Amino acid sequence: MSNLYSFAIGVGSKNSRGEWLEVYYPAPLLQPDPALCDIVIACLGTADEVEPNATQMAALESAFKQNGYSELAASVAQLAASKRPTVAVMLTSDSAPDTVPQGYLKLHLLSHRLVRPHGTDLSGIFGVLKNVAWTSAGAIDIEELPEHLLQARIQGQPLTVDCVDKFPKMVDYIVPSGIRIADASRVRLGAYVGEGTTVMHEGFINFNAGTEGPNMVEGRISAGVFCAAGSDIGGGASIMGTLSGGGSMVISMGEKCLLGANAGLGIPLGDRCTLEAGLYITAGTVVTMLDDQKQATSKVKARELSGKSDLLFRRNSVSGCVECLTNKSAVELNQSLHSSN
Ligand SMILES: CC(C)(COP(=O)(O)OP(=O)(O)OC[C@H]1O[C@@H](n2cnc3c(N)ncnc32)[C@H](O)[C@@H]1OP(=O)(O)O)[C@@H](O)C(=O)NCCC(=O)NCCS
Repeated sequence: MSNLYSFAIGVGSKNSRGEWLEVYYPAPLLQPDPALCDIVIACLGTADEVEPNATQMAALESAFKQNGYSELAASVAQLAASKRPTVAVMLTSDSAPDTVPQGYLKLHLLSHRLVRPHGTDLSGIFGVLKNVAWTSAGAIDIEELPEHLLQARIQGQPLTVDCVDKFPKMVDYIVPSGIRIADASRVRLGAYVGEGTTVMHEGFINFNAGTEGPNMVEGRISAGVFCAAGSDIGGGASIMGTLSGGGSMVISMGEKCLLGANAGLGIPLGDRCTLEAGLYITAGTVVTMLDDQKQATSKVKARELSGKSDLLFRRNSVSGCVECLTNKSAVELNQSLHSSN
């Protein structure tokens, strides 16, 4: 019996030099059962990645069908009929992605909610993925865009470029159940968007980041950040990421936290914490601790409060000091907004 970390078969786009630009996997699998792995290896071999020929696709379809994997068999049959390039990825372990098909598989695992942020190795993915023009005619290599634009004009066919990025928008690949996204371009493939999450127009979710659900997202969730159930990221709020700027602390929010409008978070929060609207807390922010009588007891760096629960942070509007009190009113999400996604 064989074991694979992940298996997926998909269809994608290449540039004129035959290099992969992107891959769509309709049904990626995480740790598929050993019987299925045996079939895959018997039909496609032991390489991490193959572009299966017609004979291999037919063998795979028939073996899936005979062994009761009817949905997979149907999917293989559809892909086999495609004139577009197809690829199968069989990762034996959770290794860093080496190729575009492997990188896309990792991003699919996240957005299909098969792994949570930080749950799969994405090291080096920036270097692996190509910069792509995402257009009304699909993915186009950025270097080949001028020729495509010219041809489109000559033929009188509109060609619209939605964005130029290494990561496409998530909903072009998967719409996970029970979510709403007001502006689809704000959520990248590789985001983990939990059941019951609402992302409003100002909300943003990067890859390898996301929400457990239910959550309200009206601010920005940077790469690597994860927000637990019931937390609310207010309009225009920012959560610091770790991709640039030297910060190495992984930021997260516990359950039922509230980032006020235009607030900023630079430390991990425990459960039931609130940041006042407009207050940006970084790891080095000096915070005055207040007791129940609102008397100052000590001063600490915000990083020392990392992961602690039931805290309310505010900037004293008289003294300008950042203060921390016991949070007596944890946020409750508006049920009617999240239960009917
Ligand atoms: C910080 C915050 C949570 C405090 O709200 P609250 O706990 O309801 O507090 P209140 O406004 O009722 O004030 C309670 C007391 O604290 C005082 N207080 C509140 N904020 C203060 C500040 N920044 N500096 C000094 N005192 C302050 C109030 O004056 C009041 O004092 P009192 O008891 O003597 O009358 C709130 O101001 C806030 O920023 N909420 C975020 C809402 C938001 O942005 N949601 C997202 C929408 S998209």
